[in-house]
Amino acid sequence: MKHQQIIDKMTLFEKAALMSGKSVWQTQDYKHLNIPSLFLSDGPHGIRKQLGSADHLGLNKSIEATCFPTAASIANSWDEDLANRIGQALGKEARELGVNVILGPGLNIKRNPLCGRNFEYFSEDPYLTERLSVEYVKGIQSQGVAATPKHYAVNSQELRRMSNDSVIDERALREIYLPGFEAAVKEGKADFIMTAYNRVNGDYANEHPHLLDEILYKEWGFEGAVVTDWGGSNDHVEGVVRGSHLEMPGTGVAGALELTQAVTEGRLSEDILNQRVDELLDIIFKLAHEDTVSDQLSEVTVYEHHQLAYEAAIKSAVLLKNHQQILPISPDKQIAIVGDFAFEPRYQGSGSSAVNPTQLESVAAIIDKTDATNNIQLYKGFTREDKIQEELVNEAVAGAKVADVVIIFAGLPEIAESEGMDRDNMQFPRNQQHLIEKISDVNSNVVVVLSGGSPVELPWVNKVSGILHTYLAGQASGQAIWDLLTGKHSPSGKLNETYPLTYQEVPSSMYYPGKEATSEYKESIFVGYRYYDTAGIPVQFPFGYGLSYSKFAYLDIQLTDSELSFRLTNIGNYAAEEITQVYVSKEESAIFRSAKELVAFKKVFLEAGDSRLVTITLPQRSFEFYNPVTKRWEIEAGVYTIGVGESSQVIHLSTKVTKEGVDLTGLYSQTLLAVYREANIKNVSDDVFEELIGYPVPDKEWNTQLPLSANDTLSQMYYAKSGLARNVYRVMTYFLNRSIAKGKPNLNLYFNYNMTFRAMAKMTGGLMNQKMVNEIVRMVNGHFWSGAKGVTSAFFENRKITKKEQINE
Ligand code: BGC
Repeated sequence: MKHQQIIDKMTLFEKAALMSGKSVWQTQDYKHLNIPSLFLSDGPHGIRKQLGSADHLGLNKSIEATCFPTAASIANSWDEDLANRIGQALGKEARELGVNVILGPGLNIKRNPLCGRNFEYFSEDPYLTERLSVEYVKGIQSQGVAATPKHYAVNSQELRRMSNDSVIDERALREIYLPGFEAAVKEGKADFIMTAYNRVNGDYANEHPHLLDEILYKEWGFEGAVVTDWGGSNDHVEGVVRGSHLEMPGTGVAGALELTQAVTEGRLSEDILNQRVDELLDIIFKLAHEDTVSDQLSEVTVYEHHQLAYEAAIKSAVLLKNHQQILPISPDKQIAIVGDFAFEPRYQGSGSSAVNPTQLESVAAIIDKTDATNNIQLYKGFTREDKIQEELVNEAVAGAKVADVVIIFAGLPEIAESEGMDRDNMQFPRNQQHLIEKISDVNSNVVVVLSGGSPVELPWVNKVSGILHTYLAGQASGQAIWDLLTGKHSPSGKLNETYPLTYQEVPSSMYYPGKEATSEYKESIFVGYRYYDTAGIPVQFPFGYGLSYSKFAYLDIQLTDSELSFRLTNIGNYAAEEITQVYVSKEESAIFRSAKELVAFKKVFLEAGDSRLVTITLPQRSFEFYNPVTKRWEIEAGVYTIGVGESSQVIHLSTKVTKEGVDLTGLYSQTLLAVYREANIKNVSDDVFEELIGYPVPDKEWNTQLPLSANDTLSQMYYAKSGLARNVYRVMTYFLNRSIAKGKPNLNLYFNYNMTFRAMAKMTGGLMNQKMVNEIVRMVNGHFWSGAKGVTSAFFENRKITKKEQINE
């Protein structure tokens, strides 16, 4: 062990205590042993360092920091260099503010458009996720700060996120949900990784033998530290055994006592504990710097990073529609700007990732600053609340009537996208739809600037001439949008996910969200375009799609070994970037496959008229699939087609290659292939799913006849034996529904609603312990008086122990 000498000086209690935080955001420190504390902060698109009262849902304000576009926006840039520079900027801000560990990037796959946290994740595609994840990690860590890829793994819904079991087959796990993490570990060398709240195939992610022991450590050679999601530690001892190092937030002395007791009782070997301490100390010493830290970013950083946020917003915008080149707009036109988002930008999502920006520009403010503004009129048109306000609509329509061009700033309001809650439909806000329709009745030159971190249905798409999708473009979005609209730069982003026509087409729509005990990933590998292309389902906008103010020609494909080349020419009038994409397909196969898979991409900048030979080395995985029987990545022998194009549906060039490999006849039964070959996955029977996952399909529903357990959620109290518990449930539900009806869902209540009883002991900084939770559960199960007595005595016992076992700093 590297730190044997220090470990020899530590008491069992000190070693055990190091495995839990000291507070909401800090790790334990021991001055007498020269072990410093690390500060951990969210998050993925900006630093959220809280100074005052700490919460992990982003409700209380944090120090001002640059709010970059969220991951879902950056992913539209397909720009590895940009991702790296944003990573560096995040690392630099962290250093200035005294943050050692950044809790990001978020690498969960966008399985379904309704997931409340999609805006924090990169893509529906594992390869795009993987490339960006590596660069974020490398960029952040180049500054001596740790990145924390999260939430490992298969965490695709917010509903009951602390108890739900993701039931998934090994191939989907390996091919779709893990590659982002794998690359962040193997290539990015991430110092930390955060486990997910949920279970995967029965085991909690933080104590998962397969995900931790077998995959993360043995296969990927992870050398960093594993941290739980906040309150996500289930069995702390089991977590430590499996390779988890840090339970967050701090649980007072409870965590330390659990581990010491387990050592004393022989349930945890002290050698394993020593090993975890050694591994964590290694990371702590690597990351603790003697910096002079401040509560404020330096002026230079604020300035430079705002410029970077601007560049990122420019590069992430996707031009979805540009009928008769309505964009860019010429500045001498009469322009009507309409929509609440033009005044108050929609630029990030809610929850633990929410950043307190150093500045924020609305488009209205930018226009106000420009010289020639007498040809531009602004109208609010709608408010955030989904209610049609006729007065605002009429005003905007009157303005639109006399304008040459109308630009409507619309999209998903803040309440639609948040950690802790999923949307329950994919509909466009009614009030905004009404406005767009009314305006397009009186003016045929309408452009919609869309904001939002996840797909929405666009029933008005044929009524407007232009759509620019900015996703959630961060604090510099105002200037960036204006410069794109007026042609200072060409949009060049391409969609990181498919825009389906309606929610019904979404492959997981039949299974999402898993409502009670489990969440069945019956669609397997058929996520996003993998499904739409294989099943031949028409979509609104395909994966990888995005227009430009320019045009590109693709010519002369060549393939030598794994080197692919082709000629790209900018045949339009604008200097612009093109994201060229490489897809692989195999028509004849003994297994089920997606019609095509993205295997590589390259972003190329070309001046108008310029041409370049683009070369791409195909990555090792390009022809491989994960064989769940041999447990290896393998190539199926046969002919493959390599296509190069501007989106998943517009392939300009293609070539074929024959690969040697394995024969996969008989890997799946004919019954299974009959379902999955054509991606006929909307109604997969339990029998077929059982063959796919390789074990009996677990019960989807809660057994309401059984008593509740510490691992059940507070939202299950509706079937509790105790009338009091049922009333608590009713009151909680009442207030939650009231907040939803008011348009401001109470995130804390949402969190508690989906929280497990067990998490009470993990989220109260040691005020409650597991024993008290068990007694509360007894009360809920109808043993009110004995439970209450148990809680009281456990409370006093806990207070006594807590006083006695002060952690010696
Ligand atoms: C979120 C994490 C976040 C943590 C700390 C949790 O609720 O799931 O993504 O990093 O809180 O804020």
